[in-house]
Amino acid sequence: MRILVTGVAGFIGFNVARVLLARGDTVIGIDSLNAYYDVTLKHARLALLAESGEAFTFAQVDFSDHEALDGALDGQQFDRIVHLGAQAGVRYSIENPRAYLQSNLAGHLNLLEVARHRKVEQMVYASSSSVYGGNDTLPFRVEDRVDQPLSLYAATKKADELMSETYAHLYRLPQTGLRFFTVYGPWGRPDMAMWLFTKAIYEGRPIDVFGEGRMRRDFTYIDDIVSGIVACLDNPPADDGMVKAGGSISPHRIYNIGNSRSEDLGEMISLIEQACGKPAERRLLPMQPGDVRDTFADISAIQRDLGYEPRTTIVEGVPRFVAWYRAYHGL
Ligand SMILES: NC(=O)c1ccc[n+]([C@@H]2O[C@H](COP(=O)([O-])OP(=O)(O)OC[C@H]3O[C@@H](n4cnc5c(N)ncnc54)[C@H](O)[C@@H]3O)[C@@H](O)[C@H]2O)c1
Repeated sequence: MRILVTGVAGFIGFNVARVLLARGDTVIGIDSLNAYYDVTLKHARLALLAESGEAFTFAQVDFSDHEALDGALDGQQFDRIVHLGAQAGVRYSIENPRAYLQSNLAGHLNLLEVARHRKVEQMVYASSSSVYGGNDTLPFRVEDRVDQPLSLYAATKKADELMSETYAHLYRLPQTGLRFFTVYGPWGRPDMAMWLFTKAIYEGRPIDVFGEGRMRRDFTYIDDIVSGIVACLDNPPADDGMVKAGGSISPHRIYNIGNSRSEDLGEMISLIEQACGKPAERRLLPMQPGDVRDTFADISAIQRDLGYEPRTTIVEGVPRFVAWYRAYHGL
């Protein structure tokens, strides 16, 4: 298959592209290489993908600019799209709301237009567990109402799901929206808690623990996320009028992809301490604006439809992340 992967220099996009290339697919990757976090890491990921030779092509483009996007894709053929590029991060959306408007709203629409005009077989796109906002019925189910987002980031992800539903209805464009739950692992993101804690512990600095350490997260290991994305990519939803996960009767389904275990933040920190062989000095701080206290994924829909099973607990996954972190930084 020939697959367009957006956000290919990002954490999840890179890991998906690696698996697709390893199984013999052709990957057309695009990314703006924005400076939200260290661009060196994005270049290092791209350098690894480039080792696949001609099966991988890359264009640096901002997909919120539709003319630039059309220009970058001119002459490229692809059957399916995995749209993972976005302005990520809850806290950054408080200070930089317009970055989310551009990348997540204009960008999502531009990818939908590409998918529609190219008549692709399916677009799989990233949503987020943050759409559940302050919902307090756990675990979160794709059937739950998600109309009270706590951050602009979450609001843009919910808006993406709505735009996708309209395109599935009007143009019968098959799509799968994936609500990811706190993804971590090798080649991860420097703005996320696990990376920040590991870095601070190695540097002998205190770690900032928001929510006084009482937050819980459904942590999902990157390999489990990638296997879920690839299973969705390989099995587009049928246009059969049947009700899909998330409630659509168009060819559009929405799944949670999590580990389906809600873990205490303190437990995650203890595992990092063990893997680093150093104790952390915890600085307990209140919840940050936009943060959600607990997340916990009901994954029964993707289990039922695609046989998805997460395999990696944080007891195995955290040491793997720390080992990668140490190797990457030559520690
Ligand atoms: N990592 C998580 O825990 C998590 C959780 C929920 C949802 N998500 C979603 O999953 C997707 C992938 O996240 P990630 O963790 O790999 O993030 P990431 O920041 O590592 O990757 C996103 C990539 O998209 C690129 N990008 C951003 N705006 C762009 C634009 N306008 N044009 C072209 N490229 C652009 C960035 O340069 C970056 O390389 C995102 O949609 C994110 O919102 C991630």
